[in-house]
Amino acid sequence: MNLSVPRRAAALSLTAALTLAGFTGASANATPAATLAAPDIPVANVKQHLADLQSIANANGGNRAHGRTGYKASIDFVKAKLDAAGYTTTIQQFTYNGTTGYNLIADWPGGDPNQVLMAGAHLDSVSSGAGINDNGSGSAAILETALAVSRAGLQPTKHLRFGWWGAEELGLVGSKYYVNNLPTTERSKISGYLNFDMIGSPNPGYFVYDDDPAIEQTFKDYFAGLGVPTEIETEGDGRSDHASFKNVGIPVGGLFTGASRVKTSAQVQKWGGTATAFDRCYHSSCDTTANINDTALDRNSDAVAHAIWTLSAGTTTPPPGPVFENTADVSIPDNGAAVTSTVNVTGVTGNAPATLKVGVDIIHTWRGDLVVDLVAPDGSVYNLKPFSSSDSADNVQTTYTVNASSEVANGAWKLRVQDKAAYDTGYINSFKLTF
Ligand code: TRP
Ligand code: ZN
Ligand code: CA
Repeated sequence: MNLSVPRRAAALSLTAALTLAGFTGASANATPAATLAAPDIPVANVKQHLADLQSIANANGGNRAHGRTGYKASIDFVKAKLDAAGYTTTIQQFTYNGTTGYNLIADWPGGDPNQVLMAGAHLDSVSSGAGINDNGSGSAAILETALAVSRAGLQPTKHLRFGWWGAEELGLVGSKYYVNNLPTTERSKISGYLNFDMIGSPNPGYFVYDDDPAIEQTFKDYFAGLGVPTEIETEGDGRSDHASFKNVGIPVGGLFTGASRVKTSAQVQKWGGTATAFDRCYHSSCDTTANINDTALDRNSDAVAHAIWTLSAGTTTPPPGPVFENTADVSIPDNGAAVTSTVNVTGVTGNAPATLKVGVDIIHTWRGDLVVDLVAPDGSVYNLKPFSSSDSADNVQTTYTVNASSEVANGAWKLRVQDKAAYDTGYINSFKLTF
């Protein structure tokens, strides 16, 4: 074709029309990141946190109660793990019964600050024991879930916040203090609060709080998937920190495996165990690491992670893999044959990812002239950019995401470029693959 001037004039008005219609050109091949399932929370890690809390109690007069040294040591222990995992942590101090109490708040950077999903657990014990089921269990499960968020590099739509409350055993003191000191605008940003208080009872039931329907359903779905029946929690609504949030209108939910109430024979049929208290060591000195049912702790910890992942609508960005780049210039003949730039990929096991990043840098006036393809080592062709008579802009400088999961990674990958119209010219500046 040698119609360069009239073609341009005609094409300009067409470009305007396509722009008005919402045409987006190069980004048409972009693939959204998939929503990923929550990981299995390693119960061994949760149990290690419980063993550490037990050691803290042992070293501090046998408890982790408000106003005792074992409480502050527990706060410092949890905070250090979260700091190392990339959380922004804040210790909030309050005074109760003439002694200083502490809440620990941990924010995971990112997410929508106007939609906060929060999970919490009280970290204090009663003074009579180490408080491993009540409430090392909930504290350890949300700690390990927070660490799993960090390991996964979770990038949720919502902002994630975790809280460990002080002085719950003295009347929900820490969580009330937190909520009362949150400005109204900040309260309204909390889209949900999930509470975990006693989730490893030695003779467990599987109870779900009957509060916000969406939160409740998220937990029920998880247990249904395991084939584990649940019941609505009735051993004292308002007896834990979710009440502080519920009282100011924040949607709440949570899990519970039972305290001093006795398991009925129908519940024994359903869940096994014995027709005795769900937790015979409730608020006693025998609430130690021996006072935990590992299966209940495991299932509930996984349910915590499932709810956090699901309710925050998380997506993950796996860390980028190896990068291969060819920066040698390749000139593109005007209205001529296709040319290629090659990168030789080595040392990558298995297939290419579903999110292969193809970095393209082509210097060329009136880029609509160009057809750009990615050619896999076996010759499979992935079109990155079609010909467009109307796209008069300069240069193709973008990163395409290609589902290359059916291609073996290792081998010679080519960026193939052909100029299909006369007059404008240019060259491949660089071609880069990120696995
Ligand atoms: N820490 C709570 C308490 O001592 C335990 C508890 C009892 C609980 N009943 C509950 C927690 C119901 C949640 C839901 O009161
Ligand atoms: Zn408790
Ligand atoms: Ca040309």
